[in-house]
Amino acid sequence: MALLAPGPDPWSLPGLFLFWLFLLPRLLTAGAAGQGPLPRVIYHAGDGRRVLSLFHQKGLQDFDTLLLSGDGGTLYVGAREAILALNIQDPGMPKLKNMVPWPASDQKKRECAFKKKSNETQCFNFIRVLVSLNATHLYTCGTFAFSPACTFIELQDSYLMPISQDKVVEGKGQSPFDPAHKHTAVLADGMLYSGTMNNFLGSEPILIRTLGPQPVLKTDNFLRWLQPDASFVAAIPSTHFVYFFFEETASEFEFFEKLHTSRVARVCKNDVGGDKLLQKKWTTFLKAQLLCAQPGQLPFNVVRHAVLLPATASADARVYATFSSQWQIGGTRSSAVCAFSLKDFRRVFEGKYKELNKETSRWTTYGVPEISPRPGSCSVGPSSDKALTFMKDHFLMDEQVVGTPVLVKSGVEYTRLAVETVQGVDGHSHLVMYLGTTTGSLHKAVGSGNNSVHLVEEIQLFPEPEPVRNLLLAPAQGAVFAGSSRGIWRVPRANCSVYESCVDCVLARDPHCAWDPESRTCRLLPTPIPKSWRQDVEQGNPRFACATGPVGRSRQPQSRPEIIKEVLSVPNSIVELPCPRLSALASYRWSHGKAAVPEASAAVYNGSLLLLLQDGAGGLYQCWATENDFSYPVVSYWVHSQDQPLALDPELAGIPRERVEAPLTRVGGGAALAAQRSYWPHFLTVTVLLALVLSGALLLLLASPLGALRARGKVRGCETLPPGEKAPLSRKQHLQPPKDHTTSAGEVDADNNRLGSEVA
Ligand SMILES: *[C@@H]1O[C@H](CO)[C@@H](O)[C@H](O)[C@H]1NC(C)=O
Ligand SMILES: *[C@@H]1O[C@H](CO)[C@@H](O)[C@H](O)[C@H]1NC(C)=O
Ligand SMILES: *[C@@H]1O[C@H](CO)[C@@H](O)[C@H](O)[C@H]1NC(C)=O
Ligand SMILES: *[C@@H]1O[C@H](CO)[C@@H](O)[C@H](O)[C@H]1NC(C)=O
Ligand SMILES: *[C@@H]1O[C@H](CO)[C@@H](O)[C@H](O)[C@H]1NC(C)=O
Repeated sequence: MALLAPGPDPWSLPGLFLFWLFLLPRLLTAGAAGQGPLPRVIYHAGDGRRVLSLFHQKGLQDFDTLLLSGDGGTLYVGAREAILALNIQDPGMPKLKNMVPWPASDQKKRECAFKKKSNETQCFNFIRVLVSLNATHLYTCGTFAFSPACTFIELQDSYLMPISQDKVVEGKGQSPFDPAHKHTAVLADGMLYSGTMNNFLGSEPILIRTLGPQPVLKTDNFLRWLQPDASFVAAIPSTHFVYFFFEETASEFEFFEKLHTSRVARVCKNDVGGDKLLQKKWTTFLKAQLLCAQPGQLPFNVVRHAVLLPATASADARVYATFSSQWQIGGTRSSAVCAFSLKDFRRVFEGKYKELNKETSRWTTYGVPEISPRPGSCSVGPSSDKALTFMKDHFLMDEQVVGTPVLVKSGVEYTRLAVETVQGVDGHSHLVMYLGTTTGSLHKAVGSGNNSVHLVEEIQLFPEPEPVRNLLLAPAQGAVFAGSSRGIWRVPRANCSVYESCVDCVLARDPHCAWDPESRTCRLLPTPIPKSWRQDVEQGNPRFACATGPVGRSRQPQSRPEIIKEVLSVPNSIVELPCPRLSALASYRWSHGKAAVPEASAAVYNGSLLLLLQDGAGGLYQCWATENDFSYPVVSYWVHSQDQPLALDPELAGIPRERVEAPLTRVGGGAALAAQRSYWPHFLTVTVLLALVLSGALLLLLASPLGALRARGKVRGCETLPPGEKAPLSRKQHLQPPKDHTTSAGEVDADNNRLGSEVA
């Protein structure tokens, strides 16, 4: 905290100079943050305010597949060559109940290595499917060293029984061969619907139904219902259908090479396959384009994951899906979440078809056929040959399913999502989305009505950036579980205690948290919901939510500080008054009494006020945050010196006071010496020097715009920049900060604490 600690040695002046040089690039990069909502709070890995627990075990890796037991108390995990049962009932670290190893056989591993696959990274059994078949059995499939295999696992009291090798069966079509290939599987009515690659080369996608009493059905490879690069990301069953979400090269847009497109496909659960035609094939396979785009923008054309939010009393069932784009817009990746209504799926699948003209190789629109029942509908009984002939060539719908973008954010790629709705104090349901990123962060996004979303927080789960492989919401445990290469992370849905005041609690707009006026704490909302608790998820306005006294005549909350920190200082020393940054969405400024802080004796660095205590500089110093059009003092200091105590302002009477030690700039010898020494000349010199350098740079810029560009090339390593070359004030610099200072999008956000808008 003691930033300015220059000793009496000659080092102090360059020290201060470097300090400014260090500050400068920060100021310049502020404002270069990505588009879309910013997370209000960012927790770095290991932050004590967001305690996460990690389950990991020596020798185990790639915790890719997650399954929650029926009672919600056990988490089954598919890792590399093993399946685990974890007890998650107690808060804190998931505890291992037991583990069954399921390695690929030595023979398969030898064959895999022989086929030029890596025996270090690929020739293992990566678990890809893990579903709960019935009360006593799980069903699981893995890549089994590029030779997919499946087996049943017996359960006893939610402990896993050992896998007997003679019960292992071939799993082609259920698990991919290559652990890098995408796949999806869902169990519906005792049958497993899976979509993945069906061959070693990864060129033959398949959508298949296995297990259960109904016949095994597949997509027809010859008829090209799926493009060879189809990549499945999710499967969602409904009453009559199973929907599949995938991405593939689009064939219908002839002018584009390699244009990716997202799809939703549908099959009927009661499909039994054809009799003479389409034997053992789907007779109800249809697909349509999924569109997630902002008006007038390039679409987010690559679907990454999709989940269902079931219908409630007030809302229809919706599918939420994350998308990224094939194109990098403005040099950065971006992501979107779109919401789709199940009704729209149904409407599109009951509309017109597309048809390929075999002579011109062009897709044209084909109206609704005069065949009854309509081909592709879940009519009972076998379909006529006429209908099946039609289905062979009419599997692509003419219309697109258009989603509503609910979140668009650049600089981030969302890999997985989980959604729920949470009832707030006002009785409204709020959408909550947990979004995992490619760099190992979790975003908690909350719908605030009208399809707008705010980010309550970003939690960096892993110390090293790596993609979140899987996310699973365990509502009964109030936690989200995230799988990574190293282990399983338990993330509590919220930690309301980080919001220490009513204002902060309300501004956070987290539907899980509300202010309890009785205990004066921000707490997890229990059920039934106490009506007296304060919350405003939609507007985030503390003016009303935190007002005290009768409505209408109440005073503005918190315009009066709750506590005053009293700082006793030594004359002619620099005192540092910290101001906690509660929100990245707020702008901060300092005040002295009712006025701005005196520029001659104060400076703001990294949010703290550095104050040179001279005669008459004592009094009330407050750090104000303005967020959502609401200003409130985050912290209030009463500064005076031991020798000349200052009588407290009568207006502040009655407010509790607390004596604090503010970091003082001291000389090596201690406080006594500090009293005799003034650092002001140093401080002033450096400031003047800086001003000179800046105006010099500005002149340089005006004289030669090319100079700016040239200087930009030399900007690396700003700390050691000679004063003459300080051109980073150029506009271009502003837009494209040097790589050294922005290693990740998260950091841009983290640093974007509106440094630029500070008032010194
Ligand atoms: C919640 O936040 C409080 C206050 O910062 C902290 O003391 C506590 O450890 C946190 N708890 C969890 C579970 O993160
Ligand atoms: C992989 O194969 C190489 C060469 O055949 C061998 O030296 C190495 O020990 C093998 N690694 C593992 C993990 O089996
Ligand atoms: C669960 O499924 C397994 C495998 O098909 C079967 O052997 C077992 O009898 C089933 N158990 C129940 C309770 O249905
Ligand atoms: C949503 O939009 C409607 C109409 O545009 C508006 O009246 C309403 O205030 C908006 N609600 C929120 C929470 O912004
Ligand atoms: C800025 O302040 C924060 C906390 O107030 C501290 O953690 C961080 O290290 C400071 N940064 C610098 C560069 O001093």
